[in-house]
Amino acid sequence: MKHPENLSPENWNKIKAFSDNKETPFIVVDLNTVREKYVELKQGFDYARIYYAVKANPAKEVLSLLADLGSNFDIASVYELDKVLECNVSADRCSFGNTIKKRKDIAYFYEKGVRLFSTDSEADLRNIAEFAPGSRIYVRILTEGSEGADWPLSRKFGCSPEMAIELAALAKELGLEPYGISFHVGSQQREIDAWDGAIAKVKVVFERLFSEHGIALKMINMGGGFPAQYIQKTNDFSTYVEEITRYLTEDFPDLVPEVILEPGRSLLGDSGVIVSEIVLISRKSQTAMERWVYTDVGKFNGLIETLDECIKYPLYTECEGEEEAVVLAGPTCDSMDIMYENHKYELPLSLEIGDRLYWMATGAYTSSYCSVEFNGFPPLKTYFI
Ligand SMILES: Cc1ncc(COP(=O)(O)O)c(C=O)c1O
Repeated sequence: MKHPENLSPENWNKIKAFSDNKETPFIVVDLNTVREKYVELKQGFDYARIYYAVKANPAKEVLSLLADLGSNFDIASVYELDKVLECNVSADRCSFGNTIKKRKDIAYFYEKGVRLFSTDSEADLRNIAEFAPGSRIYVRILTEGSEGADWPLSRKFGCSPEMAIELAALAKELGLEPYGISFHVGSQQREIDAWDGAIAKVKVVFERLFSEHGIALKMINMGGGFPAQYIQKTNDFSTYVEEITRYLTEDFPDLVPEVILEPGRSLLGDSGVIVSEIVLISRKSQTAMERWVYTDVGKFNGLIETLDECIKYPLYTECEGEEEAVVLAGPTCDSMDIMYENHKYELPLSLEIGDRLYWMATGAYTSSYCSVEFNGFPPLKTYFI
């Protein structure tokens, strides 16, 4: 193969030419791919408002590009908020999407002009009422379907639909505007049905709030979960659009509420390539079947989502010939720094120390997850093209 499967020859040649004279490890992010992904999402879900999940890649280059394209921003902390506001984004394009937040951070968002907050507990809701009076809130509900998600988000955030009803009713009493319901079906969600179950739950919450409390919610926030191209195949994006739109129109036949999407991985994932070098190749005994291949990237400088081998990135090397299973590990002195051992990646026997190994589709949840100086290694350098 002369180029990696998930990139066009033109895109690959561009990234390769840019990378060749640079010292590894680093990541190259192709902003054109981010732009294309945003346009595809916006055209597919033309009825939805996009709130980019800043956590996926909070670089200024990415934020400015998406701001220019008209995106809004799902923000998890005061630090992310400051970065987004510095890109000339007005506060009315931002939401505080983290359900776990300090009172002083709620006050900071409010002071900066943010009026849209997520919540999933009474204590947090009371804090929002006190420190962001009159704001709009949406309640996050728990969803099932974590089996289809490579990076599940189902347990830590959200509450039962029953509690969501109570919280929305309480929000009204506290002078807030109960505005909508949110969910996240889990990141890299390969089972489109997961949205079906979640939307059905939202419908029940909408109906009960109206009939029991006279509250008419206006918005569904369907979170992220749309896939990047890793080694496990997913449906085409157009199938996600068709199916999810069908679920919405079936459950809300009279009028589909306002819809918000919070994509992270699907916008950024495919835009990035981590370029690494082989530090060492060894076997644990003369008769061992597997080679251990150690690269200059690992769990602590970009590849944390290989934890439990959850995210399986496509790999590419220019070496050719017969291939054999390897264990892939990082450069640090921590034995947890093994990326893949159970999933058998095969690499050519011709691979040598000093050769380059390319980690494809690494534009999301990599550079911002790096440790600061574990073993003295600096965070991964990022180049934008
Ligand atoms: C509230 C919220 N919205 C959106 C996202 C982005 O999800 P994804 O990267 O699957 O698109 C996340 C991810 O953690 C999240 O927590």
